[in-house]
Amino acid sequence: MTTKIVRVTGRRIWDSRGRPTVEVDVEFEGGAKGRGIAPAGASRGSHEAIDLRDDGGRLGGFDVSAAVANVNGEIATALAEMDGADQRAVDERLVALDGTPQKSRLGGHALIATSMAVLHAAASARGLPLWRHLAGEAPVRLPLPQVQIFGGGAHAGRRVDIQDFLVMPVGARSFDEAMVMVAEVYRAAGELMRAAGRLCGVADEGGWWPDFKANEEALDMVARSIERAGFRKGEVVMALDIAASEFRADGRYRLGLENREFDTAAWIEVVLGWTRAYPIVSVEDPVAEDDPEGMRAFTAAVGDKVQVIGDDFLVTSAARIADAAREGQCNAVLLKPNQAGTITETVEALAAAREAGWTTVVSARSGETEDVAIAHLAVGWNAGQLKVGSFARSERMAKWNECLRIEAELGSSARFAGREALQGDQAKSASSGKTGRGTSR
Ligand code: PGA
Ligand code: ZN
Repeated sequence: MTTKIVRVTGRRIWDSRGRPTVEVDVEFEGGAKGRGIAPAGASRGSHEAIDLRDDGGRLGGFDVSAAVANVNGEIATALAEMDGADQRAVDERLVALDGTPQKSRLGGHALIATSMAVLHAAASARGLPLWRHLAGEAPVRLPLPQVQIFGGGAHAGRRVDIQDFLVMPVGARSFDEAMVMVAEVYRAAGELMRAAGRLCGVADEGGWWPDFKANEEALDMVARSIERAGFRKGEVVMALDIAASEFRADGRYRLGLENREFDTAAWIEVVLGWTRAYPIVSVEDPVAEDDPEGMRAFTAAVGDKVQVIGDDFLVTSAARIADAAREGQCNAVLLKPNQAGTITETVEALAAAREAGWTTVVSARSGETEDVAIAHLAVGWNAGQLKVGSFARSERMAKWNECLRIEAELGSSARFAGREALQGDQAKSASSGKTGRGTSR
């Protein structure tokens, strides 16, 4: 079946915040089809691929008509007749065609939607589900989920400063059981909020609205929810995405909610205190993207006890990951394909993280759609962990549900990453036979 690209079609569709986004359909000569949809972040790293948004007041300045025109024009022309089974060649063509360091000319959303559409069509041409197309004969695992219970920061009108208060069901034996455990904690949190008279709907990623007087109150509420749901110590643990770039100004960390501010050293002490007081096994962006020394100090202070994830700090860039690994900044990476702009660059970031012996977390964005490709990437790449927001709203649940279907399809050969996902040497030894960072997490 020939995999020559014969059609590339872009259109405007709408994301979970009711904002325009880019969808791309690709067709091969042999008839295989693929569709990619770009998600959108709200707390974006300043070095990630830039989405091209139309100028002017229409749709809040979020319209994508220029980006869609780029897909139907320049991009469609450039990819015509290329071999869609050669993902690297397609992605290199896209990057060269754009020609800017952050994909700002054609648009990061136009590029990632096209790159994903080609990937889907290639899987379809082989008659394989996407995860299997990516994995080949390599081992796969269902990812340990990071699930938001309270959403704050840029996803909740900065009601609290910290962005994500998450749980990880490390004691689960399957993805199915992991979902049951998370559902119990999410429900318990809602009940506790109702009992406290503080239940007021949900934030952008479906987590409960954080009606708290201090950031630490939210931490407390997550810990109490785990307890109320009846889990033993260590069965369900906590994770944070601090997204600290959002509240750093003039070199200081300012907690708007508590009207307090800190220098880097004092701020790190605050977060370290939380990791000691609560069962927190993972902290994302503990300091701001422009505070590499803070990132190094925090990573050194937690040693192997806490997973330190770079999101805004690393923006799914292989070069940044290699630099950070050399400098001892972070020990894990968040992989967001639309930060990189193409699938090939995302795979390169994954490889750089594995080379460093890091753990890896495939992640959606706060602006999402019904697209479930991210679940396939997490499984097919054997990433170990998946983060797609909370346990409510269909753009989130669609991803969790897709993992359940993949687990069912794998049947008795399905493996759930569980607690092992927090050990950096696991994926690396699975992929290369070498050993990486040992850990006591
Ligand atoms: P974003 O944030 O998708 O709104 O940029 C998600 C995250 O920080 O992990
Ligand atoms: Zn983040």
